[in-house]
Amino acid sequence: MSLAVGVIGTGVMGAEHARLLRDATSGAHLAAVCDADPARAGAAAKGAAVFTDALALINSDQVQAVVIASPDATHAQYALACLAAGKPCLCEKPIAATAAEGLDIVQAEVALGRRLVTVGFMRRFDPAYTEMQAARIAGNIGAPVLLHNIHRNAAAPAWFTGAMAVTNSFVHEIDISRWLLGSEMINAQVTAAPGGDPMLVTMQTDKAEIVSTEVFMNATYGYHVHAQLVGRAGTVEMAAPTRILTNLSAAQSFGFPSNWVPRFTEAYRLQMQAWVDAARAGQTTGASAWDGFVTTSTAEQIVAGMGNAGMGNAGRITLTYPPRPALYA
Ligand SMILES: NC(=O)c1ccc[n+]([C@@H]2O[C@H](COP(=O)([O-])OP(=O)(O)OC[C@H]3O[C@@H](n4cnc5c(N)ncnc54)[C@H](O)[C@@H]3O)[C@@H](O)[C@H]2O)c1
Repeated sequence: MSLAVGVIGTGVMGAEHARLLRDATSGAHLAAVCDADPARAGAAAKGAAVFTDALALINSDQVQAVVIASPDATHAQYALACLAAGKPCLCEKPIAATAAEGLDIVQAEVALGRRLVTVGFMRRFDPAYTEMQAARIAGNIGAPVLLHNIHRNAAAPAWFTGAMAVTNSFVHEIDISRWLLGSEMINAQVTAAPGGDPMLVTMQTDKAEIVSTEVFMNATYGYHVHAQLVGRAGTVEMAAPTRILTNLSAAQSFGFPSNWVPRFTEAYRLQMQAWVDAARAGQTTGASAWDGFVTTSTAEQIVAGMGNAGMGNAGRITLTYPPRPALYA
């Protein structure tokens, strides 16, 4: 039977998730949508039921599983409501606005005794990242020693602060670095350019690997995500994000996307399909509530240690976490 999915928040990400459920996912259908803006919900519904109250959507008999794509501050309340209703949820990153709220979700799942929450760190489904992780596990490049990440946005709005560059953008590198390396981050150091952008975050893992990440919110030329994993015997890195090269005017070139949706289209699709398949089998996939908590906690600890009004240039920040519950072994 097709899984009836409800989508909460039908802005940029929610509209894309709704489209994937309608047009590009097998074994599921878009059953309901909800948005604080009824016109936006109506535009995304395309025949699905429209709710004005997210909690009513979560508790509706018409909905078996939920995608949460409303703003960060709403994630915890809705994820907890999904757990109370016993329904699987794919919650957009970050799991919650604060690590304390993220831990509430972990503790609710532990009390329930089963995992229902997936956090939408879709890079885990991106073909380039999955090949890099497979190369690391195959061992051909030798023991990993360094992971270089680049995260550049064309432009960020003026209200996007240095702290948000960590809690909203760099969270992707925290999660994918843990996943790529299979390691935990134990400390971090932030160095920022004048004005706070770009910043360079250097982390060390519990296996003594070094993770460097450039986070540049106003890189101007386009949206550019890159990673290179350095092992003792070789390196593996992402190829240019393109399918075609253009030869013109004595130069060879390819285009950069303007934002994350075109760059990670396939990752969002694969994530949705994997989540639906897992939900139908009574399982979960992707980043767990624990992964979501660790990532938000790491970001929060880095921001607290950055000082200087979020401009960086702080000393090394020691990262600590509570013990991992057995549910997430
Ligand atoms: N995985 C990724 O790559 C990625 C990329 C961008 C954004 N995100 C995350 O997705 C979420 C949504 O981001 P976005 O860029 O789509 O934002 P957006 O502003 O485009 O969309 C958010 C939508 O939620 C609606 N909304 C607000 N409060 C609501 C409520 N209480 N109940 C229901 N709907 C409500 C708004 O009206 C809006 O339509 C955020 O948590 C963001 O961090 C993830």
